[in-house]
Amino acid sequence: MLVTGASSGIGAGFAEAFARAGASTIGICARRADRLAETAERCRALGATVHEWIVDFAEPGQAEELARNALDGMGGVDILVNNAGIPKRRHVTATDSATVDRVTQINYLAPIHLTLALLPQMLERDAGRIINVASVAATLSSPGETAYAASKAALAVFSECMTVDLWGTGVKVLVVYPGIVDTELFSIPDNDPLVAEVEAITVDDCVAQVLDALDRDALEVYTPAHFKDFAVGKANNVEGFLAGTAQYVQQQQAAKA
Ligand SMILES: NC(=O)c1ccc[n+]([C@@H]2O[C@H](COP(=O)([O-])OP(=O)(O)OC[C@H]3O[C@@H](n4cnc5c(N)ncnc54)[C@H](OP(=O)(O)O)[C@@H]3O)[C@@H](O)[C@H]2O)c1
Repeated sequence: MLVTGASSGIGAGFAEAFARAGASTIGICARRADRLAETAERCRALGATVHEWIVDFAEPGQAEELARNALDGMGGVDILVNNAGIPKRRHVTATDSATVDRVTQINYLAPIHLTLALLPQMLERDAGRIINVASVAATLSSPGETAYAASKAALAVFSECMTVDLWGTGVKVLVVYPGIVDTELFSIPDNDPLVAEVEAITVDDCVAQVLDALDRDALEVYTPAHFKDFAVGKANNVEGFLAGTAQYVQQQQAAKA
């Protein structure tokens, strides 16, 4: 089992939940070695053997290198959790090409490259689970999140197409659409404040809902579930949804002015 972005938040929550559920070997990675080591210690205390890799997905080629290290170190990866990601809350007029490239590299290209590198050994065993952490931003056209939302939409659509291609094999893909989960994602510098004030769920709640979806062989899960209703509402009336969102943003800005 390999969890990316396990130094904090949802990824750390996944690693610990898997260790608590009895996973014997867990691979984890991120950039912050100290925080990754803390996650590793908590998993070891629960009885798991833990492999740690320092990885920066902003660098092309790191996903493939991680795949090689994980296969060498663990002998195989049965469950892959593509969780690492960065936000980028910024108005489109303040978004430059370099920002789009970086967000796309970390949130979309790296998880897909990692998936493609680990897929053959899953297919060889005819067994494997790929859990791709997208975002409700992917389906709700979140204001001020063009690069981020598009990277997550790309990850989600790739995952869905892969599900169809792999149908009938033992490899299954689950797309996770978190709403607002209480993590460090909202205090990362160089991001605008959130437009909407939405009640956050805990990491434990989010992870529990994903594990339940995994047990049910679900293809997607929204955490919390009611965000799916918003996505359906948008799909039924895209024009109305976009106009309503723009109006809401303007009202929020006027209230703050
Ligand atoms: N929290 C929410 O409400 C929410 C909502 C929707 C989707 N999500 C998604 O959930 C996932 C986890 O986010 P979180 O909320 O748990 O936030 P978080 O605590 O900031 O976790 C993000 C993780 O990604 C890793 N990461 C970031 N940039 C990286 C890079 N260049 N290379 C390697 N690892 C990198 C971070 O580790 P290092 O900094 O140590 O590298 C960290 O472990 C993300 O994909 C995020 O987009 C979260």
